Amino acid sequence: MNSTTGFFDICLGLQWGDEGKGKIVDYLAKDYNIVARFQGGPNAGHTLWYENEKIILHNLPSGILHRHVKNFIGPGCVVKPVTLLEEITLVTKTLGLSQSAMKQRIYVSEQAFVIHPMYEWLDKAIECSKGSSGVGTTGKGIGPTYAAIKNRVALRFADVMKKDFFSSQENWDFIEHCNNELSFYRDTYGYVLPTPDEITETLTNFQTSIKQLEAYVNFVDCFWLKNKLELHEKVLAEGAQGTMLDNNFGCYPMVTSSNTIAGAAPVGLGVSMKYFRKTIGVFKWYTTKVGSGLFPSRIMDEEIENLLQEAGGEIGATTGRKRMCGWLDLVQMNYAIRINDVDELIMTKVDINPLKEIQVIEKYDVHYFGKTTTFPVDLSTIREAMPGTLKQSWNFDKQNPLALGLGLYVAHIESQTRVKITHMSYGPNREDIFSF
Ligand code: IMP
Repeated sequence: MNSTTGFFDICLGLQWGDEGKGKIVDYLAKDYNIVARFQGGPNAGHTLWYENEKIILHNLPSGILHRHVKNFIGPGCVVKPVTLLEEITLVTKTLGLSQSAMKQRIYVSEQAFVIHPMYEWLDKAIECSKGSSGVGTTGKGIGPTYAAIKNRVALRFADVMKKDFFSSQENWDFIEHCNNELSFYRDTYGYVLPTPDEITETLTNFQTSIKQLEAYVNFVDCFWLKNKLELHEKVLAEGAQGTMLDNNFGCYPMVTSSNTIAGAAPVGLGVSMKYFRKTIGVFKWYTTKVGSGLFPSRIMDEEIENLLQEAGGEIGATTGRKRMCGWLDLVQMNYAIRINDVDELIMTKVDINPLKEIQVIEKYDVHYFGKTTTFPVDLSTIREAMPGTLKQSWNFDKQNPLALGLGLYVAHIESQTRVKITHMSYGPNREDIFSF
């Protein structure tokens, strides 16, 4: 970090997403000038509360409720314009802001990629073609858009905002190409295509929303963020999804299509490591996962899993799917902490604990290798996720948060990860948090 400039910190999830990062970023944002999303798109669902109103953000960074914060969507992101516009409209209305006041809060890279509606249909078609071995995607077009980026055929805001883009040959060629792909999935896998009316309506909404966004969004070039850093501004880079969903370092192939780890932040924002200060890792005291794929620490007792699922309201903010619940997994956590070089930990949902006895996974029993604390590259080699000796649960007490039970839990995690827990979140509101 250069002391004559501003800096950026990174706040990201250490599990399979849904760690409660949105609320944490909203809380931390008080100390930053800019909150910046560096990857992902509307597959994320970050829940914030504003005066008893629930706001679920998908594309917008979680600093949006603060008057002093500029919210940046970086070139590493994929954006669904219709959803972004809906979110902006919701936040503008809930906060009672004028259009121009809102515009002062939102900055989108002209190099950020647009999720074309054709890619949403393609996402569902590809998932359909995989049958029971599907990833369980959110169906938001994330995979096809990132694939198109790598294939060099994706569309950036800079492209779709060009005058006459929608009447151009380029646009018609793009749609025809996607149509051919969709027809392949219809003919080969029985994917049910959207009706021509649905296609027309969706494409019209897509086009209109891009136009309407201009009233609320500042589209900025690749040096916008760097210039702010040089002007001593403090940036919080906000991760979406979680470490175990990283395209390379997560539980491949049951992952998302972007890199979610700390190393992705400078790339996805277009700033160098020169400005980097620290990484803050967020985790829930237990673990959850949505979508398909193996989940080593899953609670196998259905009654206990249901208790935790209900108490924790473990229903996906984007898809409405129930999340599987598991014990805190220190093998997985230590992997995530190392991959990200986490400097500080924030633990969430400590007020939710309906269980009399808890477990913490500390070792795996792995085929051919035996007991290990190393997270394996192939989860199917895990015979058993093995709990340690810690069993004591807690009744959360706001007056005495580190009373026996939770205090032991915190001390145990800190000793096993060698990283300090700096905050504990105990409710959905911004102020429901202890800082140590
Ligand atoms: P995609 O990102 O929609 O392609 O989905 C890929 C996998 O990541 C699926 O298992 C999704 O359920 C999961 N996933 C994507 N975004 C999130 C998230 O924000 N929280 C939790 N899981 C997610």
